[in-house]
Amino acid sequence: MSGDLRRHASPQKNSWGAGAGTSPEARLRQRLPTLDDIERRTRRRIPRFAFDFLEGGTGGDLNTKRNRQALDAVELVPRYGAPGPVHTEVELLGVQCAAPIGISPVGVDGIVWPGATKILAAAAAKARIPYMAGTLATATIEEVAGLAGPYAWFQLYGLPANDHSVTFDLIKRAGSAGVHVLAATLDAPVRSKRPRDLRNGLVVPFRPTLKTIFDVASSLPWLLALLKEGTPAFRNMEQYVDKPPTQAGTAGFVQSQIKGTFSWDTVKRMRDAWPGALVVKGVMHPADAEQAIAVGVDGILVSNHGGRQLDAAPAAIDVLPAIAGCVGTRATILFDSGIRSGLDVARAIALGAHGTLAGRAFLLGLGALGESGATYVAELLKEELETAMGQLGAPSVDMLSRLTRRHRDAFDFT
Ligand SMILES: Cc1cc2nc3c(=O)[nH]c(=O)nc-3n(C[C@H](O)[C@H](O)[C@H](O)COP(=O)(O)O)c2cc1C
Repeated sequence: MSGDLRRHASPQKNSWGAGAGTSPEARLRQRLPTLDDIERRTRRRIPRFAFDFLEGGTGGDLNTKRNRQALDAVELVPRYGAPGPVHTEVELLGVQCAAPIGISPVGVDGIVWPGATKILAAAAAKARIPYMAGTLATATIEEVAGLAGPYAWFQLYGLPANDHSVTFDLIKRAGSAGVHVLAATLDAPVRSKRPRDLRNGLVVPFRPTLKTIFDVASSLPWLLALLKEGTPAFRNMEQYVDKPPTQAGTAGFVQSQIKGTFSWDTVKRMRDAWPGALVVKGVMHPADAEQAIAVGVDGILVSNHGGRQLDAAPAAIDVLPAIAGCVGTRATILFDSGIRSGLDVARAIALGAHGTLAGRAFLLGLGALGESGATYVAELLKEELETAMGQLGAPSVDMLSRLTRRHRDAFDFT
């Protein structure tokens, strides 16, 4: 390991070993040591419709489960003989990050935790990790950029009316706000069927039932956050609807105008209009990665939308090696869909990703702990990644990609 790496390396202690201590931080890590513990606590603390909205996939949640099972099945072989500190810092699309971990966009995140978008933006800056705020976030891209600074990324859904005039206005706004990375989501060409939301009446316009009201009344911390923050709204959209913007008016606009995919021609137009790094989100086939590279993108986010779009889709981790192999050094490979631990991050990097993101994990943190929960999840994932790297004998993120691994269900596209 180089001297330079040693100087920047994190101290090699973790919060689960002997002598972890009795500080509030240490006690929290004993009480909620994993994302599964965090999820259990969140389930008790937020209304049922909010929990189902976050956790649910499409159809029978098969793709969501497949993402998890496939990650669990990836085996990594440790190497010994060169112990030393590990170093999780990486550069992703020109941004120096504390770890190869970022926050994926979760549209209308304020349903899960009122005020979520701003909390996540601030937590990203604190943890020095990217936050890809959504078109459908509950704070504006200008607010996000103000809070997240260099870690603010922006996810774009298309608004094709009038030759994409609103789409390109959003791109301009993101640039003026100081965002460096723009991600165009490809993988939601149609509105998917999410039975949990239908059963819970979580549709536009929202129709609360007696059960919903009871649910909200018995979720006191969530209710207090709602009273503080107000009802979640599509803040990025408000300037495009009739004044004054109403909940119903903005929601109707979103329902009728937004499309979760783009033609390659439109991605090419974005390339021409956007001087920063351009990513396409939701790539699941090497041929689509090729197309994306042909129109000049800088990053490919391998993702199946966390299992929320197509129940028969493969696990995203199972297509990652083929896509990474096809792209080679021509673009940055990002991965999301199923990340629940630092070990999962290590698995994705070992299979070809340069960086990973997680959607549900960070929102679960907010549900479990309120405002401090996103920072807690960022710390937990980073600490777990450090432990995995130490155990695997991989002192740098780059070294993870050289590990021997077994991935029985990897897709072969040939
Ligand atoms: C409740 C929810 C809402 C989401 N909304 C969006 C969105 O507005 N735009 C988008 O590109 N992806 C959206 N996603 C997908 C995430 O960005 C990300 O791809 C996915 O959550 C990754 O899987 P994970 O939750 O297992 O980490 C959403 C995911 C969830 C769970």
